[in-house]
Amino acid sequence: VENILQLYPLPGQERPLEGTYLDHQLRQYGQASAKSFIYGNYILSLDGRIAIPRLTQPGFMLPKSIANPRDWRLFQELAAQADLIISSSRYLQDWAEGRVDEILQVDRPEFADLSAWRLAQGLPPQPDIAIISSALQFTIPAVLPASGRKLIIFATAANAGQVREIEAGGGQVIIAGESQVSAAQVAQDLAELGYLTVYLTAGPKVLHLLLAGGVMDRLYLTYANRILGGQPYLGLVEGSLLEPAFNLTLDRLYYDPYGLDGLGQLFASYNRR
Ligand SMILES: NC(=O)c1ccc[n+]([C@@H]2O[C@H](COP(=O)([O-])OP(=O)(O)OC[C@H]3O[C@@H](n4cnc5c(N)ncnc54)[C@H](OP(=O)(O)O)[C@@H]3O)[C@@H](O)[C@H]2O)c1
Repeated sequence: VENILQLYPLPGQERPLEGTYLDHQLRQYGQASAKSFIYGNYILSLDGRIAIPRLTQPGFMLPKSIANPRDWRLFQELAAQADLIISSSRYLQDWAEGRVDEILQVDRPEFADLSAWRLAQGLPPQPDIAIISSALQFTIPAVLPASGRKLIIFATAANAGQVREIEAGGGQVIIAGESQVSAAQVAQDLAELGYLTVYLTAGPKVLHLLLAGGVMDRLYLTYANRILGGQPYLGLVEGSLLEPAFNLTLDRLYYDPYGLDGLGQLFASYNRR
């Protein structure tokens, strides 16, 4: 069996990969505080790259050289615990055009246990989706309104003119700021809508927004044992200097010697302080 090693907290122990992040029981925190518990998860190279340029189109993509099924398993365990996933207009567009799939892949046989887990918790099969957008240029994937799932779009008052069109397509627009989306407003609105366990899967700009707004509660980072180099690239966070810096404390750390064909990777989680 290809176990991972828990390195922190001590004493360390060997354990199966499967269930590692489910065991973090993320649903308890929002329920206890009646505020949304917001967590994100990123895989990065040792030189801090989370995305590199796409080959044939403009824009960025997750580097194929660091993506791997063992990290993906843990990503899915985090998605399975969510009431709502914050994604991006880029993902919605890729989804509407058939280039990517559902974020939580409960229909895949390897994740059937996560589907059963949601059912046992009394959760709907899929989390709802939200995005934060200023451009409001995207197509709503047909599966969302068809399955009765909610799509919430956090926008600014400056875009109020486009609201009717999006709502006709099945999205719910919430104006969460005048010229800038306010992260505090997003967090408050999510809690009021009853989304207490919220998984952030958007990229480094949205992460910057939520860190700057002080609403990120936990960050999961996978450090893949590879150095990629190359320009341009996206780092974990893209945006202005965070002042004050966002402080975190180490929650748990695991070493996976089997990921990336035996190169290995670290799985770390951090709490805000
Ligand atoms: N390695 C990893 O674990 C990982 C994880 C996540 C993403 N990524 C990669 O990161 C890249 C970028 O991801 P992404 O496009 O999902 O996310 P992003 O760079 O965080 O930004 C996505 C969109 O969010 C909106 N946005 C960001 N900040 C905003 C603000 N302050 N106010 C209003 N809207 C704001 C913009 O939408 P509009 O354009 O609609 O205005 C922006 O295009 C992708 O290549 C992805 O593969 C990697």
